[in-house]
Amino acid sequence: MVTKPGLSATFSLTDHHGNGVTAEDFSGLNVLIYFGFTHCRVVCPRSLAKLSSVVRGLDDAGLKIKPLYVTVDPERDTPEVMKDYLKQNHPQFTGLTGSVEAIERVKQDFRVFALRKEDPEDPDGYAVPHTAIAYLIGPDGIYLDHFPDSMDEDRIFRRIEQLIAG
Ligand code: NI
Repeated sequence: MVTKPGLSATFSLTDHHGNGVTAEDFSGLNVLIYFGFTHCRVVCPRSLAKLSSVVRGLDDAGLKIKPLYVTVDPERDTPEVMKDYLKQNHPQFTGLTGSVEAIERVKQDFRVFALRKEDPEDPDGYAVPHTAIAYLIGPDGIYLDHFPDSMDEDRIFRRIEQLIAG
């Protein structure tokens, strides 16, 4: 039982190149993890643009962070779909998908709520409203902090900088 969000031993997903990944692959890295789905029309584009800008700023300051985008819509978000989406819009991010069961486990580890509902404006007729929080995970896989969608870019940048700098 994980008491705080983090990369658990059961974390086992597929990246947007089709390679299997576990928590071990991110050992020693600071990770920024955000959940969403590529058909998301408003929240994900806004959050991913903001987080990408934060990551670029940190990189410019010599602070390395690995941003991950975990789908809550694994049936549509195959590795290929995520790769195309991220390559065009948010190239720093690595997309992660997996079986419905594997995604459920990761959602539970991070207390992410996302449930499919009808959406007549979507080409497939559904959307997956989701928790819009980014989580910062330290090099040991353990939770450091989280940033709600409402938090502005400068504040997220300064907080991460403070947590991961030397
Ligand atoms: Ni979204």
